[in-house]
Amino acid sequence: MSSRTYNMALHCSRACRQYLLHLAQDNVEFRLPEIKALLSLRGQPFCPVEDFKEKSPFWLLKNVSEDDVRGIMARTVCAKSVFELWGHGRTHTELQSSLERYPKEDMAPFLQEDSTYKINVYTFNKTLEFQDRIKKIDELEYLPFQGKVNLKHPDHVFCLLEDYGTDPNNIPDEPFHVYFGRWIADGQRELIRSHSVKKRHFIGNTSMDAGLSFIMANHARVKSHDLVYDPFVGTGSLLIACSHFGAYVCGTDIDYNTIHGIGKASRKNQKWRGPDENIRANLRQYGREQFYLDVLVSDASKSIWREGPLFNAIVTDPPYGIRESTRRTGSQKEIIKPSEDFCGESHVPVSMAYHLSDMLSDLLNFAARYLVMGGRLVYWLPIYRPEYREEIVPLHPCLSLISNCEQTLSSHTSRRLITMEKTKEFEASDIMSLLQDSRYSPYRGHNAFREKYFSGITKRSGKDEGKAPTKEDD
Ligand SMILES: C[S@@+](CC[C@H](N)C(=O)[O-])C[C@H]1O[C@@H](n2cnc3c(N)ncnc32)[C@H](O)[C@@H]1O
Repeated sequence: MSSRTYNMALHCSRACRQYLLHLAQDNVEFRLPEIKALLSLRGQPFCPVEDFKEKSPFWLLKNVSEDDVRGIMARTVCAKSVFELWGHGRTHTELQSSLERYPKEDMAPFLQEDSTYKINVYTFNKTLEFQDRIKKIDELEYLPFQGKVNLKHPDHVFCLLEDYGTDPNNIPDEPFHVYFGRWIADGQRELIRSHSVKKRHFIGNTSMDAGLSFIMANHARVKSHDLVYDPFVGTGSLLIACSHFGAYVCGTDIDYNTIHGIGKASRKNQKWRGPDENIRANLRQYGREQFYLDVLVSDASKSIWREGPLFNAIVTDPPYGIRESTRRTGSQKEIIKPSEDFCGESHVPVSMAYHLSDMLSDLLNFAARYLVMGGRLVYWLPIYRPEYREEIVPLHPCLSLISNCEQTLSSHTSRRLITMEKTKEFEASDIMSLLQDSRYSPYRGHNAFREKYFSGITKRSGKDEGKAPTKEDD
């Protein structure tokens, strides 16, 4: 073979390479938007092979490079590991034929005599005895391994993966599908443990769970040197996740005590918050203090920012009114007309009800005005499930809906993680469309989420009776 033909063959076999993603089975709906967002950060589309099953723990990807999959694994909390796929099939015989077709020159660098290796066996939805695992490894003897086995520090790690389906009550004797590949990298599942709210310095009643915070930062495509803002910052869980990916972070909250880290503690056995229990200290705990800009007390219904595109991403968790109130400050415009017997004095309300639908339209308008082009808004939308229709998700002429994933909270309530991308600059004419077009304010019927949440609970008896959705429990 001439060197040119060899190089072309090599190029083709590399381009035709497939990668096997092994995904975690929690937060199943959040996985596809996460992987798509991470691929798009690298300028790559999501290219699954035919017969793609979104709920499966195994996905095959094509048209990506090893660098791309390493880039995804450096950020994902939904995928556990990725392998360069060498072969697969519905049976071990099909796997063998598939492995025999894999280009020998692509295998060769990893099977050298002077290298060491190890083969793992992973079974999904079935536990195998040690002897059965060894037997499965022995059955791979047709693979031309030349190096020595080293279980502790191998140069190369391979894995035989068997998929026994997703029904724990109906586990077949033989797997539905088997895969063999070279391990490339693990994902960032460890972040879920290392950033657990349980071990966090400063927490509140609604601190966002660590795994979901990282998923939100990934859906928002937060990257190094970005400027990220959370208008309902609370204890700053979302700022922690965004700063982990190298973004500069800031936030606002209407609650003076939360912003100043004072007042009643949320931890059991602790009455008052201690000194230095604040958002800056949270970032310090994870070595991210250099990305902390600031947080201030401010009402999200009244923008304090100089007009114009400012933020690369807005990542937030607005209040639903279950564990924290949905209030906004009153203003001069909203002075209640004095009644006859009110001694003629005006009364400026300190705080007023802030309907969810108004809060959401303010949030979308804010994102349209202050996001840079291509910037993303990621937020949670509370849903009363019996009444949910896709049309109630608020839209905006300047923002495109990217994904909408459900996290069930109870039989009748859930919250949906909404990701939108700014695709058009905000113009004065958009205000008219917003007022006239009913698609832009469809959430109104869902305003009474709190009442519906609690009325649903009192109607039912069940394990979650009387329990508000705790985000720590996610
Ligand atoms: C669900 S919590 C956010 C929790 C936060 N993600 C965390 O991890 O701690 C919602 C926050 O919105 C704040 N909030 C409520 N109404 C507000 C308003 N009008 N403007 C700004 N913040 C508001 C509440 O004080 C609360 O801290």
